[in-house]
Amino acid sequence: MGKIISVITQKGGVGKTTTVNALCATLSRKDYRVLAIDMDPQGNLSFSTGADTESKPTIYELIKGDVGVKEAIQRMSMTDIVPSNILLSGIELEYTGKNREFLLYAALKEAQAFYDYIIVDSPPGLGILTVNALTACDYVIIPMMPDIFSLQGLTLVYETIDYVKHTINPGIEIAGVLINRYVKRSKLHKEVYGTAKMICQKLHIPLFETVIRNSTALAEAQALQMDITEYARRSTGTKDFSSLLTELERYGMVKHPY
Ligand SMILES: Nc1ncnc2c1ncn2[C@@H]1O[C@H](COP(=O)(O)OP(=O)(O)O)[C@@H](O)[C@H]1O
Ligand SMILES: [Mg+2]
Repeated sequence: MGKIISVITQKGGVGKTTTVNALCATLSRKDYRVLAIDMDPQGNLSFSTGADTESKPTIYELIKGDVGVKEAIQRMSMTDIVPSNILLSGIELEYTGKNREFLLYAALKEAQAFYDYIIVDSPPGLGILTVNALTACDYVIIPMMPDIFSLQGLTLVYETIDYVKHTINPGIEIAGVLINRYVKRSKLHKEVYGTAKMICQKLHIPLFETVIRNSTALAEAQALQMDITEYARRSTGTKDFSSLLTELERYGMVKHPY
């Protein structure tokens, strides 16, 4: 059974989509079978993989049961993906009853047999779409920027995950907090890393040793709808995500391909 990794945090613009995109590309390159799920109605991940969000089924139709998972998956060069578009924002209003947290969980059950990893991108905020991403997953990655507001937000995102763990999904594990857009020469960034470490120790959650450096190639690859490992093989972006995967594998979170 494939493992589901959700990339979440309430802040926008901190690197959730970039992390999902680059991690999928890095896993695919190592011959893992990977499926990306776009749970953000903005559809940024769908765009960056080149998926069709207009004329083909999306995660919205899959969640509603209008299509099966095989019909919803698009095979792109970088990764397989179930895309999204703005219709997904309707879920909040359309599902108000019990079990509304389990929609994604139910939608992905069948697909887990065909993939080693399913990586879920989520919208900013801690609403029902994010709670669905947390309910469905085995592991969470929490990206953050090396700034003071992100530090302040860390406890809140932890509390949400902890709440889901104690009420809905006891199996959920935090794989780690991932610092993104790190600049090695910056004194502030170094200090934020140190403070993030202290907060993580207090909360008993891991902080990845790997930091993702600021890398223009990452942003360019997304704009050009290209796989970062192909677009700029020697870029810091490719290197950093490769070392993130090595770190995940080292800690046993990622089993080896067969
Ligand atoms: N390490 C990085 N280096 C350079 N640009 C980055 C990096 N991480 C993210 N970006 C850029 O920052 C913007 C926000 O990132 P994104 O992944 O979309 O955040 P989120 O999904 O959390 O809203 C995007 O334009 C993305 O290309
Ligand atoms: Mg995003």
